[in-house]
Amino acid sequence: MAYRNLEIGNRGAVRTITVNRPDKLNALNRDTLNELGIAFAQAAQDDAVRAVVLAGAGDKAFVAGADIAEMHGYTPAQAQGFSRAGQRLMTSIERLGKPVVARVQGFALGGGMELAMACHLRVASEKARFGQPEINLGLIPGFGGTQRLLRLAGRGAALELCLTGAPVTAQRAYELGIVNRVVAAEALDETVDALADQLAAAAPLAAAGILDAVLQGGETPLDQGLEFETQGFALMFATEDMREGTGAFLEKRKAAFKGR
Ligand code: COA
Repeated sequence: MAYRNLEIGNRGAVRTITVNRPDKLNALNRDTLNELGIAFAQAAQDDAVRAVVLAGAGDKAFVAGADIAEMHGYTPAQAQGFSRAGQRLMTSIERLGKPVVARVQGFALGGGMELAMACHLRVASEKARFGQPEINLGLIPGFGGTQRLLRLAGRGAALELCLTGAPVTAQRAYELGIVNRVVAAEALDETVDALADQLAAAAPLAAAGILDAVLQGGETPLDQGLEFETQGFALMFATEDMREGTGAFLEKRKAAFKGR
């Protein structure tokens, strides 16, 4: 499918989805949200895709937020619809069942930070900046920012970023647990590619099981989370990949996982 606001690439089993509105710092308008929903659904359905990288076009921004020009005239009902559409997209990324890495080279603000937080891992250039500046617009985050930042970095960080609206450096975001890795700008692509390759080479059903257990566990009491883990663990014994992985270890060879 041809997209107006996205570029799609494939490298081995890694699908790259790039938000491509660099003249608007990749701001998320309705169209872009819709296209992202379609692109992620396609990545979920395609068995050849084992990991996804989400990026923003140009040097300046990953995504500089929801589209302020579009939001400016919204009624509360339209804003509710926009918030729900954004939240649906973020949740669909989080629940993709395949690892998703955000490649953040510049601004990840507002909806851009929310998009990065919906991804499973975040790799940032040292030039990247993260923030929830909605308060400066008389707004609050609407694509899950208050909730995912709370869960990712705790109440103190969530309140600091959302109440001040001030962006933080990639290094500070790393210290707060928001970002997994910070690298020099020149090393960003090779770091993201190596990580995505590693994720794509892993046993896909085990990766899906880990994503499920960790995401569910964040929302349930410990006993329920542990039970969920036990069910997932037991389920792995029904897979060819588990026999292959354990067998390969015992035979001192490299495992070849098939996602079965
Ligand atoms: N929505 C719509 N358009 C946006 C945008 C957004 N969130 N962020 C940037 N743009 C547009 C600008 O309006 C400008 O368009 P124009 O050239 O047609 O005037 C273009 O992208 C470039 O942005 P500009 O502000 O000129 O770049 P800058 O380098 O001076 O500043 C930022 C960069 C990121 C600091 C600034 O763009 C900004 O504060 N953006 C909004 C961030 C925000 O509040 N996000 C949360 C939204 S809920």
